[in-house]
Amino acid sequence: MKVAVFSSKPYDKLHLENANDGRHEFEFFEAHMNAQTAPLAAGFDAVCCFVNDTLDREAVRQLKEANIKLVAMRCAGFNNVDLKACEEYDLHIARVPEYSPFAVAEHAVALILDLNRNIHRAVNRVKENDYSLNGLLGFDLHGKTVGVVGTGKIGVCFARIMKGFGCEVIASDPYENDAMKEVGSYVEAHELWQRSDIISLHCPLIPQTKHLINSNTIGQMKKGTMLINTSRGALIDTRAVIEALKSGQIGYLGLDVYEEEANLFFEDYSNDMLLDDVFARLITFPNVVVTGHQAFFTREALSAIANVTIANLNGVEDGKEDQVQWVKRK
Ligand code: NAI
Repeated sequence: MKVAVFSSKPYDKLHLENANDGRHEFEFFEAHMNAQTAPLAAGFDAVCCFVNDTLDREAVRQLKEANIKLVAMRCAGFNNVDLKACEEYDLHIARVPEYSPFAVAEHAVALILDLNRNIHRAVNRVKENDYSLNGLLGFDLHGKTVGVVGTGKIGVCFARIMKGFGCEVIASDPYENDAMKEVGSYVEAHELWQRSDIISLHCPLIPQTKHLINSNTIGQMKKGTMLINTSRGALIDTRAVIEALKSGQIGYLGLDVYEEEANLFFEDYSNDMLLDDVFARLITFPNVVVTGHQAFFTREALSAIANVTIANLNGVEDGKEDQVQWVKRK
């Protein structure tokens, strides 16, 4: 298949070409996929897209017009795809449902450890020849209560790690799963907000979970709660969280995702002004750590993403539809 890879970076090129057995012909575009760039797909059989590409109705229409047979998402989430439009235009979407739950879970833990022990501040102090400890006081994770919101592949993996620290793990999910019950207990969401010292979000972004963390849910939390989000930015109402950081209701915030990240993350803007005032305010807090959607970014995860993407392309080309990880088929 001739495949146009959008939002591509050198590491995508490396891993996709390594996984390709010479069967598919890739062309790599740095541009994001959206209604303006979709015409670039003309002449290709498939497009390969990522988390911040915008597959809205107009982009989907244009891809269909370009005779695209498959949209191969090289990620798990598909909140950026207009599935209704895909169904109407009979455009087929595949994805990589699982690549490394460890990568994301371990990054969530990295954010917790960094925030708790103020590693980001301590490193700067030492560089300044400042070895004072004032303001760096942490707490033992042992014995603390960790609330896991969403107990799928990543949530369970995260829960196991936190159990290993000696934490009590509680969880909420509309669908309970036995693997989680071996590590901790399920509670209603309101109880999770009330009891947790640390809350980590591992649910998908769907209409029901948009702004799951808002002034109401934050109000039910313990004062000084640590909040971690490695899932999708819009799970959190950022403005509400900023108010809660100012009041001390949220004591620590660790983010790998941000609701307006699409025009920010994955690029180098170090020579430009930061124009997003909400984000600019967020990163001024000493008790906030933000990484730019890198939780997935391990060697193992990139190899797995490339392998499943190639398998999806092979499956479609060979007519072996049961071997394709579909998002939605008509
Ligand atoms: P999964 O599909 O295995 O698990 C998601 C779980 O969330 C399911 O058990 C589901 O029932 C639950 N859920 C749905 N609605 C909920 C609600 N209202 N409250 C609580 N739980 C709810 O997904 P997986 O693989 O564990 O991924 C979780 C999320 O992590 C993805 O949706 C994606 O947004 C994010 N992710 C982030 C990455 C990063 O690099 N930062 C990389 C990969 C995934």
